[in-house]
Amino acid sequence: MIAIAIARPGGPEVLQPIDVPVPAPGSREVLIRVSAAGVNRPDIMQRDGKYPPPPGASDIPGLEVSGVVAACGPSVERWREGDRVCALVSGGGYAEYCLAPDVQCLPVPSTLDLVSAGGVPETFFTVWANAFERGRLRAGESFLVHGGSSGIGTTAIQMARAFGARVFATAGTEEKCAACERLGAERAINYKTENFAAILLNLTNGRGIDVILDMVGGAYFSRNVDLLALEGRLLQIAVLHGARAEINLVRLLRQRLTITGATLRSRTVQEKGAIAGAVERLVWPLVEAGKIRPVIYATFPLIEAADAHRLMESGSHIGKIVLTV
Ligand SMILES: NC(=O)c1ccc[n+]([C@@H]2O[C@H](COP(=O)([O-])OP(=O)(O)OC[C@H]3O[C@@H](n4cnc5c(N)ncnc54)[C@H](OP(=O)(O)O)[C@@H]3O)[C@@H](O)[C@H]2O)c1
Repeated sequence: MIAIAIARPGGPEVLQPIDVPVPAPGSREVLIRVSAAGVNRPDIMQRDGKYPPPPGASDIPGLEVSGVVAACGPSVERWREGDRVCALVSGGGYAEYCLAPDVQCLPVPSTLDLVSAGGVPETFFTVWANAFERGRLRAGESFLVHGGSSGIGTTAIQMARAFGARVFATAGTEEKCAACERLGAERAINYKTENFAAILLNLTNGRGIDVILDMVGGAYFSRNVDLLALEGRLLQIAVLHGARAEINLVRLLRQRLTITGATLRSRTVQEKGAIAGAVERLVWPLVEAGKIRPVIYATFPLIEAADAHRLMESGSHIGKIVLTV
């Protein structure tokens, strides 16, 4: 099969097609004939040499796929050859075939084609596990996602809105802000021209935001802490602007805040399976009802993965970039 390898750490040009054997499924694994593979920001970090695959994971990039089940390991019960699935994987997605643990596969909702489904698992699982499980976001609460036009952001806005939250977002251009508002944000703030904290304090009558999902970090950390409402929760999922930050601990005490962070990839198969179960039970019905859908900005043939990375690094995309096979 053709797969895309990272020849050495570097720019998009190090992504090169190689010929490798089709992998054989282990006992509880499913072999998927890939239709589409989502491109995620962590793939860029992996290509740059800054996010190595966890032990035991394929060194071929790609954290999510959709496709048709081609073979099942002997202990797989739920899936059969020919089933249409999408799956979260810890690597190996940029390929014609990909292995996934059976519990990390989900049926493709009837409202999605296979290409769109390839852009679902990584962001849906991440948003669910952070905003709803760790962050306990509830209907009626206010929710802010930074990077609202990202793959993560476009998913978070729709999911939070569908569960009845009051949604706000930040993004770096007027066009991105307009897209966030079309997806369900009550107000999206262009952080390059406006002060998001002042605007959101005003819109919440000084109360602040209940749950913040942040990928920026750095100087945003203390601004987020200052913006949280009483009993507010800050979910840190990346640190695009820096890993070091200062906090006013008095505010943490007075406001009874919760600050937490997590990465999805390093979690066990069992934990990812539990997230998959919750997503299927609670989020899939909203996808089936057409209330949430992945925002696919562009597709590229698998062998043009380098161009897909160039687009992501340009930062001009809104939503997901997907490779098709
Ligand atoms: N913890 C986890 O489990 C987990 C899982 C998946 C993804 N993530 C993280 O979530 C973030 C979003 O992932 P994604 O795949 O949705 O990526 P993406 O679509 O490329 O989005 C990145 C967003 O970040 C904003 N941004 C702010 N500062 C940036 C900078 N210095 N460089 C690049 N972008 C910057 C950009 O929007 P503006 O133009 O508006 O600034 C852009 O919308 C990534 O940092 C990724 O590592 C974490």
